[in-house]
Amino acid sequence: MATAWWEECIVYQIYPRSFQDTDGDGIGDLKGIIQRMDYLESLGIDAIWLSPVFCSPMADFGYDISDYYTIDPLFGTLEDSDLLIREAHERNMKVIFDMVLNHTSIEHPWFQESRQSKDNEKADYYIWSDSIPNNWHGAFGKKAWTYDDVRKQYYLHSFLEEQPDLNWRNQEVVDAMFSILRFWLDRGIDGFRLDVINCIVKDKTLRSNPKIVGSRPRPYDMQRHIFDRNRPGTHQKLRMMRQLVDAYPDRMLVGEIMVELPGEPELAASYLGRNRDELHLSFDFSLAYTRFNAVKWQRSAKRWCEAIGKNRVPSWVLNNHDISRLVSRLTGNVAKAKLASLFLITQRGSIFLYYGEELGLPDSKVPWKYIHDPLGKRYWPVHPGRDPARGPMIWTVEEGHGFSVGESWLPFAPDAASYAVEEQEKDASSMLNYYRSLITMRKEEPIFGRGTCTYLNTNNKHIICYLREYEDEKCMIILNFNGRKQNVIIHDMVHPKTDWTIRFSSQKMLPDTETEAFNLQPWQGCIYSLKSKSS
Ligand code: NOJ
Repeated sequence: MATAWWEECIVYQIYPRSFQDTDGDGIGDLKGIIQRMDYLESLGIDAIWLSPVFCSPMADFGYDISDYYTIDPLFGTLEDSDLLIREAHERNMKVIFDMVLNHTSIEHPWFQESRQSKDNEKADYYIWSDSIPNNWHGAFGKKAWTYDDVRKQYYLHSFLEEQPDLNWRNQEVVDAMFSILRFWLDRGIDGFRLDVINCIVKDKTLRSNPKIVGSRPRPYDMQRHIFDRNRPGTHQKLRMMRQLVDAYPDRMLVGEIMVELPGEPELAASYLGRNRDELHLSFDFSLAYTRFNAVKWQRSAKRWCEAIGKNRVPSWVLNNHDISRLVSRLTGNVAKAKLASLFLITQRGSIFLYYGEELGLPDSKVPWKYIHDPLGKRYWPVHPGRDPARGPMIWTVEEGHGFSVGESWLPFAPDAASYAVEEQEKDASSMLNYYRSLITMRKEEPIFGRGTCTYLNTNNKHIICYLREYEDEKCMIILNFNGRKQNVIIHDMVHPKTDWTIRFSSQKMLPDTETEAFNLQPWQGCIYSLKSKSS
């Protein structure tokens, strides 16, 4: 069977507010993304995913939608989004929109109508109760139930009180949401990233979640979310959604699955459907939440692959708009970041990158008075919120960094000029060129996206070593997760050492290939190809 594009794609996530501003308001827009299309193409990516750009009062920066059929004027117009899709397609790139199906904005006309009475046409579009029926918490703090003065009842919100949860047990809601998906598919969108998709169906009788003992900063994390997430009905809804999307050629659904930290790969995998009939892809964030350590990373990656199995497709992600950037998590160690991305890019399946990741961009420092994110506002300083990971893209070295002629909505990363695209383009050893070469290699050689993966034993807790195989090709990846040189001896190696030639290194200094062992520099990662015996 031919491989579908999403089975081995590289998707680049854009946080539109922070990518490129063209009207000087300090907030990025669709025209800005169009303006940077050549740059996107030059990265060699297959698709761009835009965080939500629909009409929104922006209580959660677009994850609270008040009109699913229009683009927020802050970002542009429907014509702009049509043009963006066309421009991307002309360059052979797909466009994925972020779609929030679990909740709307409180300002959505459905909610405004629903709150008027208990018997209006939209009365059951949301989840209402005369009293607080259970112990559910909102992920951003406070109880998940808020009293509405007009309807004189409580409504459910799994996130902010400005984000009321839709009632997916109401067929009219399902039909309405499916019409929205069709509208965008008809306009040429190539797929959706589905926000918190495992939360859409709630327990029918709204039972309380079991409590977790211990102490954690957020009350939300003090319960096992078995009644407000992962209800069996979700799978049925996803099967219907898959049928809808598959009626259009070459489209894709990738789902965000809310899990207990540091991750539940089996759960994320379950949403692909036993018969590959639910989501095309789902996110497992375990790696992003796992300490940078060879044993832990290997265990995490293996568990994800085992959960996915041979016939479904894993996706890989180290950064997104909700978590501190990788480089900052690694306290600025560029060699470690290069090693991590080598691991990422040499995995089977599809890869998700986050704008600025290719520059090695760290988090912005956001002082209290500039915090925008509701999570940060509520939990500062225990949790600084997500603004630091959403800093503006750095295009040039001068003031404004080519992002905006106005004052940018969030501060640039510290020492911003040193990350500028224009500088990195000129430097062969820059992070940007490193990513480009990794991406080119992956695209030229199907072994990386499609090949099987077998972990090899080195008896060294600082090393991850794996063999990738596809048709007649073989390559071996060795990663040193330690700050000292390592001599690596591969115990269950299928071929003698002399058969391997170095194909790629994360560092300039190449390992010594003359000795018995593979010698790796601190934090070095290398790809070796099997030299064919006949050559
Ligand atoms: C997950 C999104 O990634 C996050 O940014 C958002 O705040 C919540 N879902 C609520 O929609």
